[in-house]
Amino acid sequence: MKNTKLFKIHCDKIDKFKLKEASEILREGGTIAFPTETVYGLGANALDEKAVKKIFEAKGRPSDNPLIIHISKFEDVEKLCRDIPPIMKILANKFWPGPLTMIVKKSSQVPDVVTAGLDTVAIRLPSHPIAKILIEMAGIPVAAPSANLSGKPSTTSENHVIEDLMGRVNGIVCGGDSNVGVESTVLDITCSPPMILRPGGVTKEELEAEIGQVSVDPALLSGEDQSIITPKSPGMKYTHYSPKAEVIIIKGTIENISSKIKELQKQNEEQGLKVGIMTTEETKDMYKGDNVKSLGSRKDLNTIATNLFKVLREFDKEDIDIILAESYQEIGIGQAIMNRLTKAAGYNVVETGEKRS
Ligand code: TXA
Ligand code: MG
Repeated sequence: MKNTKLFKIHCDKIDKFKLKEASEILREGGTIAFPTETVYGLGANALDEKAVKKIFEAKGRPSDNPLIIHISKFEDVEKLCRDIPPIMKILANKFWPGPLTMIVKKSSQVPDVVTAGLDTVAIRLPSHPIAKILIEMAGIPVAAPSANLSGKPSTTSENHVIEDLMGRVNGIVCGGDSNVGVESTVLDITCSPPMILRPGGVTKEELEAEIGQVSVDPALLSGEDQSIITPKSPGMKYTHYSPKAEVIIIKGTIENISSKIKELQKQNEEQGLKVGIMTTEETKDMYKGDNVKSLGSRKDLNTIATNLFKVLREFDKEDIDIILAESYQEIGIGQAIMNRLTKAAGYNVVETGEKRS
């Protein structure tokens, strides 16, 4: 059991003195959770094998799932990758700092434990002011997966991180809520066209507007159980984002979705189960009961993304047995939302009638 130090930092008035202490812990081989614009990350010195191993231990993360290295300025990529593909600069100019992770060929300086033995490395320059200053002050590249216990929904607020990692890490920088709410887009730029291995904060449409055609890992497209197709991103094969409750996604037209949800709610409540409904502003009044939670308006998928993990975690706190979740259109950030939701549901999807166009 570690003595976890909490560093409370206000985003709009960053106390550099407090952050310095956290950055020193990182530099000296400790583990620090910190906010990023996507989700909270659990960081350690990426060039220190022993430090990186502590991340895997704290999260209970399988060692064959590689980590993303976080940097505070573009030049930091030089020592992490063998060469800098021209497309990396183009993408960095447009999307860094921000929720895009690029996969490139790794340099020999990056320990194998970070990349799980792969010859590629994932790199991201986050835009969150606390993350940027913390990494800059530490003066080292920071390996950081999402700051949750392995398998659980990612953490988008300091309270989530405290719930999962108190006593397991050296420090937690508490800096408010992450506003993107889903993790970064993982883009493999070692192939042509570049391939999305995980949809995230930067959308396929945004990438294509900048660099033309972008492909998507077939394992993501199927919407089927990935035990059938091996994904290129090792992390995508694990159980992920799973609350304690069983999650069922209901697809179809809004009308079909709501009548199916009401039917399933009735069936399950009759069996004595506690049912939670994950809905939207447009549809929340269609349901009755104490456990109806809206993620936001369907017209604003960014807000739906921001609230997704938060609401999954809230249902857990309320000991919900079954979460019935409405589905979303897989355009823009909707691709990331449906990817996370489908994994949270373990591919438990009910199709109702005709598919929505
Ligand atoms: O937004 C984010 O990306 C957050 C914040 C903290 O930056 N981080 C995050 O890390 O989501 P993590 O470890 O939860 O997810 C990293 C994903 C995993 O699916 C992993 O398999 C994949 O990136 N990945 C890392 N290195 C890779 C590589 N060399 N090749 C393919 N996939 C890789
Ligand atoms: Mg994760």
